[in-house]
Amino acid sequence: MTVYPVTENFAAEIGDVDLSKPLSDADRTEIETAFNHYSVLVFPDQHLSTDQHLDFARNFGPLETTIHAARSDAKLRVRAEIADVSNLSQDDQIWGKESRKRMFEMGNRMWHTDSSFRRLPAKASLLYGRSIPPVGGQTEFADMRAAYDALPADMKLRLRALVAEHAIMYSRKKLGFTDFSDEENQTLPPVPQALVRKHAGSGRIGLYLASHAGRIFGMTEEEGKALLQQLIDHATQRQFIYTHRWRLHDLVMWDNRCTMHRGKGYDDLRWPRDMQRATVSDVAPTCEQEGLAAPAAA
Ligand code: OGA
Ligand code: MN
Repeated sequence: MTVYPVTENFAAEIGDVDLSKPLSDADRTEIETAFNHYSVLVFPDQHLSTDQHLDFARNFGPLETTIHAARSDAKLRVRAEIADVSNLSQDDQIWGKESRKRMFEMGNRMWHTDSSFRRLPAKASLLYGRSIPPVGGQTEFADMRAAYDALPADMKLRLRALVAEHAIMYSRKKLGFTDFSDEENQTLPPVPQALVRKHAGSGRIGLYLASHAGRIFGMTEEEGKALLQQLIDHATQRQFIYTHRWRLHDLVMWDNRCTMHRGKGYDDLRWPRDMQRATVSDVAPTCEQEGLAAPAAA
């Protein structure tokens, strides 16, 4: 296995390893070490069945089930352990312009980190490109540890005590999407998340932000939203970004604890883009990890 840095501290390509086979202990350790230093690992030219994709992801912790399983009437195109990030409907055809899935997935165009709307958010995401469009559809990643490092000292101090409230309804509402069932509203309530986190694998500190964040505890809605927007603007400046331009059969693994990402547009009514994501859960709620009291829902 070979680790080729793409940037000094944020992205690396991992070559000479076949992820369809069980990992040796040495390879797993090397991947974990690279993952803790960089935040985005690109494994090119992988040929994986769904089982192999999920088995590889399980090396890093327990898997999430898709948010769409929160609807008992959901008809999934793929297994419940896979987040279907494609533009395909259940019958593998390109989605309709007005389809609910298309409107919902538009949320991925906004900067976010996966599953920050869950009490136990995601640690790692492993997105696999089964088919990709010829133009567009890149994924951008923002380095939240570098963004934190670049803040003024008084700001760092102030932010470390803060807790934000995240919900899937908050990010979707920003785009005008409100089509949630009572069942979804009940199973996906807003949750508290630390605004700043110490990254378990490296000890470095990072901002923890997402489009899912809707308010900050102890602040008025306006003040909290303004601060969140200011921080997202700061963290997504050019110098903190790596853009991944997909090749067929790339598997990209990123660290949701210290990054944000967003998908770029493409002609999604013309080209199939079959991206499937396995998602590894974090070990504990973020307030618990930071030793912050988690406020009750606002
Ligand atoms: C994701 C996601 C963006 C993209 O898989 O979690 O946000 O480019 N993907 O598909
Ligand atoms: Mn995502």
